[in-house]
Order: sequence, then structure tokens, then C-alpha cells
Amino acid sequence: MDQQEAFDIEYWLLEDAKLRRQPPEKELDRQIIVVVGAGAGIGKATAHRLVREGAHIVCVDLDEASANQTAQEIIAKYGEGIGVAGTGISDCGPAIGLACDITVRSSVQQMYEAVMLAYGGIDAVVVTAGIFVPPDKAGYIADRLWEKTFAINVTGAYIVADEANKIFTQQGLPGAIVLTTSANAIVAKKGSLAYDSSKAAANHLVRELAVEMAPLVRVNAVAPATVVRGSTMFPRDRVIASLTKYAIPFSEEEETESLREKLAVFYAKRSLTQLQIEPEDQAEAIFLLVSQRLARTTGHVIPVDGGLQDGFLR
Ligand SMILES: NC(=O)c1ccc[n+]([C@@H]2O[C@H](COP(=O)([O-])OP(=O)(O)OC[C@H]3O[C@@H](n4cnc5c(N)ncnc54)[C@H](O)[C@@H]3O)[C@@H](O)[C@H]2O)c1
Repeated sequence: MDQQEAFDIEYWLLEDAKLRRQPPEKELDRQIIVVVGAGAGIGKATAHRLVREGAHIVCVDLDEASANQTAQEIIAKYGEGIGVAGTGISDCGPAIGLACDITVRSSVQQMYEAVMLAYGGIDAVVVTAGIFVPPDKAGYIADRLWEKTFAINVTGAYIVADEANKIFTQQGLPGAIVLTTSANAIVAKKGSLAYDSSKAAANHLVRELAVEMAPLVRVNAVAPATVVRGSTMFPRDRVIASLTKYAIPFSEEEETESLREKLAVFYAKRSLTQLQIEPEDQAEAIFLLVSQRLARTTGHVIPVDGGLQDGFLR
């Protein structure tokens, strides 16, 4: 055996041993996942959950500062990436933050262009961005607020999915989209007419998109209920209005966090599991839907609501 042959044999054994010692790949390693709504609440928790599984996260929000904040939290934990010369994007490591208004198609297109420059493609898109507009004191919702509610909760989610579909089609690789609807989509309530109707439309949007985008892309949703902690959807005024509506004792002097806790405890008590629902509970279901664990599920909405009898499908 000549020296070269001996080297080749030994080298390969050493190389093989080295490869075996590498830690096993994480479930979402090398995946690029866009989380729209990552600046707060469920979106922020989702960004943190998915990066733990190895994914690179594009944190997107209308509020650029909060999108960057989530990206920075991830970078602080998982380390910097390398910059892309000439792109203006200084970091394409574990996360980047981008601003986007999902109600404006050109804004969504620009966001995806920046994602392409930073990472070169996408594997999944999660949309948690949404709004709840309460009615006025007379219980009325002005037309412009009705329109805004639908523009974000329905049309915006559609635009994000539609633009993603163009990329998925070009890539020719399997992808996943997860939207966020609500328990209210099927439980009609007083005081949330526009929101509930928009979420019912979003439920059907999931099914329509699943049909349109099959077989390459799976489209599903989570339907949360009453996630008070971390959500910007429960400002002090809304919490006080709800505590009053449900005759829960409180004092005007109480800190907002204490009022929010009271409401969360009340909501938990009326569910079948009696458990408080956290942003992380929604993030867990979203992780299952983007991963291969639910690779055979598309066109469905998974309730993460603690068990609401009124929300059972008939
Ligand atoms: N929190 C709950 O109890 C609850 C219950 C049922 C359903 N949901 C749904 O879950 C989703 C997330 O809720 P959350 O509690 O995390 O809300 P949140 O308000 O804490 O976060 C939503 C994020 O979406 C962003 N956003 C709003 N409009 C946008 C736009 N036009 N473009 C881009 N981003 C935009 C906001 O800036 C915010 O950071 C929403 O769709 C909501 O309707 C929440």
C-alpha cells in the first residue's frame, strides 16, 4: 500500500469519526422561518420557540423597533451572523428584524426581498399579526374600524400568504404557512362583531389557501383564546371593561399587571382544563404545524383555548 492510499483510508476513518461526534441536527436546522407579528405576544414567543429548534427567524412587525428587539434578543442568546456585503443587512445569523405593514402589498414584497437577500429563501411563514378594535361606548364599530380589522386580520394574512406562495412555487420545495385566527371565529359574542367576523373569514381563508397551495405548501392555523400575558391586545382599558362586564371585583388603584392577572385567572376558570393560556402554548402548536410532526395536516385550525365547550365544532 503506498503512502497516499494509507492516508486516504485513515483520513476517511478520522473524518467519519468526527462526523459521528457532531451533535445531531435539530428539528428545524437550516430552516428559514418568517414570523409576522414577532414584535409582541404570541409572535414573539413563536420566534423564541422556533429558534430553539434551530430555525433562522425573520422577525417582522409593523412596529420596526419591536421586530428588531425580538431579533436582538435571539442574537444575544444564539450569537451573531455574518453580514451580507452590499445589501445593507448587517446580520443574517439566527435572526433579523424587518418592518412591514401586511395591509400593503408593496410593503410585504419589500419584506420578502430583504429576506431573499439575507437568507436566499424561505421554508415557512407564520402570521400572528392581528388587531382587536373594541366598539365605542354605545357598542358601535365605525366603518373605518371594521375595514381596518378586516384589512389586517383577513386581507393582510392573505397578502403575506399569497406573496409567500410565489416564492414557494419558484423554489419548488415544500413549505408551510400558519395563520392565527381565534376561538371567537366560531363563538359569537357581544362586543366583538368586527373582530369575530374577521376571524371567521380567516378560518375559511386557511381552507381556501390550503386548496390553492396544495400539494407544495401546507396551510393551517392556531385558534387561541384569552392569552393575556405579553399581549398588546389587552390594554388597561380593555381589561377594566372586561372585569366590569364579568363582575370581577377590582380597585382602580391596582397595577395593570395585577388586573390582567385577575382577568387571566377568570378566563382560565371558565375553560375545561382551567389552565391559564400563555403565548408559549400557542407557540408550541405553531411549532408542531411548521415542523414535519404534522406534515400530513393541511387546511385545519387547531384550537389552543384551554378547552371551550362553546367552541366545539358541531
Ligand atoms: N391574545 C389573545 O388572547 C388572542 C386570542 C385569540 C386570538 N388572538 C390572535 O392571535 C394573534 C396574536 O395576538 P397577540 O396577543 O400576540 O397580539 P399582539 O397585539 O400582542 O401582537 C400582534 C402584533 O401584530 C403586529 N401588527 C399589527 N398590525 C400589523 C400590520 N398591519 N402589519 C404587521 N404587523 C402588525 C403588532 O404590531 C403586534 O406586535 C392575533 O391575530 C390575535 O387576533 C389573540
